[in-house]
Amino acid sequence: MNIVIVGIQWGDEGKGKIIDILSKKVDYIVRYQGGSNAGHTVVVEDKEYIFHLIPSGILHKGKICCIGNGVVIDCAALIKEINGLESSGVHIGNRLKISSLAHVIFPYHKILDELREAKRSKKIGTTKRGIGPCYADKINRCGIRMVDLLNPRILREKLKDNLDEKRQILEKVYGHPGFKFQSIYKEYLHYGKTLSKYISNTHLLLNKVIGQDKDVLFEGAQGTFLDIDFGTYPFVTSSSATAGGACIGTGVAPIKLNKIIGVAKAYTTRVGEGPFPAQFTPAFDKFIREKGNEFGATTGRPRRCGWFDLVMVREAVILNGISELAVMKLDVLDGLKTIKICTAYKYKGKLFKEFPHDLEVLENARTVYKEMPGWEDSVSNVRHFKDLPANAKNYLSELEDSLGVGVSIVSVGSSREETIFR
Ligand code: IMP
Repeated sequence: MNIVIVGIQWGDEGKGKIIDILSKKVDYIVRYQGGSNAGHTVVVEDKEYIFHLIPSGILHKGKICCIGNGVVIDCAALIKEINGLESSGVHIGNRLKISSLAHVIFPYHKILDELREAKRSKKIGTTKRGIGPCYADKINRCGIRMVDLLNPRILREKLKDNLDEKRQILEKVYGHPGFKFQSIYKEYLHYGKTLSKYISNTHLLLNKVIGQDKDVLFEGAQGTFLDIDFGTYPFVTSSSATAGGACIGTGVAPIKLNKIIGVAKAYTTRVGEGPFPAQFTPAFDKFIREKGNEFGATTGRPRRCGWFDLVMVREAVILNGISELAVMKLDVLDGLKTIKICTAYKYKGKLFKEFPHDLEVLENARTVYKEMPGWEDSVSNVRHFKDLPANAKNYLSELEDSLGVGVSIVSVGSSREETIFR
């Protein structure tokens, strides 16, 4: 069974925990897009692990983890993550495979990310990890891939051209002096040497093992509304964060995917700029942010919080072909008198039940809510669906009925144990 895990809001839905849990049941786990802008948090026996590039499945002995061709790699961040895992007792050995075709993030990508963002009148609120500029170079056909780090001549040629072009842009547009060739060249050749034992043609490996009936979990990063095509553009990341990205970003054909699990929080959060129709009022926003510890795992930035938005998630179910849902952080809604679900937007007298991609509508729409009674008792200790408070069950049933998809996993806390399977 080949399963895709995809975020169906604006990222940070809790995919890391679901991937960790499902990793037990598969043989291979592959990350397919994004880079170290992602932060997947997993808690095991009170120890918190935050993953930026390596699939969290690495915590399970014997599982093979791949970083697919669709990912953009910050080599220094990756080496730090490998060393950090090894020093906390997670043995990686030959269980990590990095696609030779994945593109590499260079210092000029990071500085361009920062300088472009500073110049923009409407900020995107990027993580400043160089993600957008690296993907732009990939599409512009001047990117440098992992395989290039292993060939000194090719790396020299490509890097020279890039540094020359970037220096002119950096100097003329941003008044930045640019970067010296020699030190970057040496640094990245060194990264190539350090990582060479992990670099391989992961697309061939994955297709081979799928042919041998092994099970593969495809790990999405960010979320549907940060997708470069279907997100709230331009307030998006630069990769295909929807399920389709799993094929492009690994080289596995669509026909080989068996199941797509959509991960959503029981409410909504967003980090960075951009429209957020169902955002809470400021005081409630602060209350839920603190209760749910809603701060970015990568940048520590406070996340904005809001009600569950059916307009968004209905679209996400269609776009990703979601076959089942994992609803996360239900416990954060404990103790509320009422809970709202956003069912539509209203703008200039028009009702929007389908997600509007016109920024003017998204930025100014009023939200239409269905209000439901909350529940008093904490759900954190519940381990069986039938034991949830009646109103919590009603809330989940309402989501299922409105989305036409069943909830198969409910998370009621950060640890592996605090999970309900149906
Ligand atoms: P970038 O991916 O750094 O270019 O950032 C673009 C937008 O995506 C910004 O709004 C970021 O806050 C958001 N973003 C990127 N990665 C994540 C993530 O892993 N979780 C949530 N938001 C993210």
